[in-house]
Amino acid sequence: MIDSTAEWTALRAEADDQLNKTLRQRFADNPGRARDLSIEVDGLHADLSKHLIEASTVDALVALANAAGLSEKIDAMYSGEHINSTEDRAVLHTALRLPIDATLVVDGQDTVADVHAVLEHMASFANDVRSGAWTGHTGQRITTVVNIGIGGSDLGPFMAYRALEAFRHESIECRYVSNVDGTHLHQALTGIDPATTLFIVASKTFTTLETLSNAKSARAWLLDGLGGDESAIAKHFVALSTNAEGVAAFGIDTANMFEFWDWVGGRYSMDAAIGLSLMLAVGPDNFMDMLSGFHAMDTHFRTAPIEQNLPAMLGLIGVFYRNFFDWPTHAVLPYCQLLDRFPAYLQQLDMESNGKQTTIDGEAVSYDTGAVVWGEPGTNGQHAFYQLIHQGTTPVPCDFIGFYEPDFPAVDHHDALIANLFAQAEALAMGKTADEVRAEGVDESLVSHKTFPGNRPSTMLMAPRLTPFVLGQLVSLYEHRTFTQGVIWGVNSFDQWGVELGKILAKAIIPELESSSTELTHDSSTNALIERYRAHHNR
Ligand code: F6P
Repeated sequence: MIDSTAEWTALRAEADDQLNKTLRQRFADNPGRARDLSIEVDGLHADLSKHLIEASTVDALVALANAAGLSEKIDAMYSGEHINSTEDRAVLHTALRLPIDATLVVDGQDTVADVHAVLEHMASFANDVRSGAWTGHTGQRITTVVNIGIGGSDLGPFMAYRALEAFRHESIECRYVSNVDGTHLHQALTGIDPATTLFIVASKTFTTLETLSNAKSARAWLLDGLGGDESAIAKHFVALSTNAEGVAAFGIDTANMFEFWDWVGGRYSMDAAIGLSLMLAVGPDNFMDMLSGFHAMDTHFRTAPIEQNLPAMLGLIGVFYRNFFDWPTHAVLPYCQLLDRFPAYLQQLDMESNGKQTTIDGEAVSYDTGAVVWGEPGTNGQHAFYQLIHQGTTPVPCDFIGFYEPDFPAVDHHDALIANLFAQAEALAMGKTADEVRAEGVDESLVSHKTFPGNRPSTMLMAPRLTPFVLGQLVSLYEHRTFTQGVIWGVNSFDQWGVELGKILAKAIIPELESSSTELTHDSSTNALIERYRAHHNR
């Protein structure tokens, strides 16, 4: 296992060295530190200089990556090897953004041709809906799109729809329904007209309880609103799935299905057909620009040497803090309101991928894996949880994300926003010593309260503007950061067995809630909870 290698052991000593040196000292020692520890990828600037690293750390992390075979594993992923071994699948989200003139034959199939055929199908549908050529059952144009999906079939398109608001068609609104809590669908349907609503049922497997329940209720709502004519379904329901049989069984014509493939993981699918709602909102050209951004970062990840490889370095630095400093969480803090769902999106991407206690070979890991990912946009977070980030007992490595230009210049507070962004990273890194506090004349009883430890690391990611291309770069960056960490930890980042048990138990409990005739055989706590629920409903 990786923790028995010499490279892992070397990092222990490296971590001890780095913990003892402050960021203040590092910047004083090397005025060129920001320049030396920055990476630029196609206009995306990453300043890594506020990390607890030196050239020796970079060397030691690169050595660890080599010991784990990172470069070989990148090649194996990109070339379509079945690296998702527990499900015997290739992992080819990078093929979703290959240009049309690329070639990639995997398992005898021309993936580039398949991908672009679906993209064309999506684009032609999106153009028809956007132009009004596609109408609903009563002949009216579509003005509301309701995406019904959960997890990877919701978080990515929802995040991107919000992120690219500045690029949206002015008369198409998308709404996203994921939770099986009926309130979610109720809210989404409130105030909209069935005659002008298109439902997208997004589910890789087309077996997901939440999605099928919501889709069934949406179908009933539509038929109710349009006089019960079943032929209306074809004009108001489309499906995004790998499961044509399931789509047909649900009653959606497979001519209205946009397919993807089992080599696209759910949490890696927002750039596949799962992104249809986004394409409807921003149009095919912007969607293709986003794919170009993904591809640019994919190319960088595949070709740049590890020490200059942004996703690899961010992944390795994350491992450094998780395993050698024992810091369990990682915050993502976009200074951009339109990225408000980005942390939630990353939670699934990272935690469903690397929250594993077993190596890919089935052995129990002897070290920590996946960090808890969390965050909120700045400046809101500053007035909520930043207190803990600045003065709490456990440091939280942070990713700050900012843009030189605002999304909507009509209300321009951008200098204030960016000043806060830079100030937070500076405050975390440099802190404020007790002497500095005293020098301000602060009463001695308050000195310790007003002291900031500093030395709290962060990455600063900056791009000119949040465009479709930049969004693609950012998502791909985090996909590959996640991959890098999975390789170091030796886990399969592409399965998610840990979500299964709860699903199975829930399926068993539904009939037990509905009828008191079923004998309860759970633990006494679960039995009592079920009985209380039944009693409340007089069952
Ligand atoms: O429950 C987890 C999960 O399987 C995710 O991995 C996936 O993104 C989500 O459920 C939704 O699955 P589907 O797209 O098949 O409905």
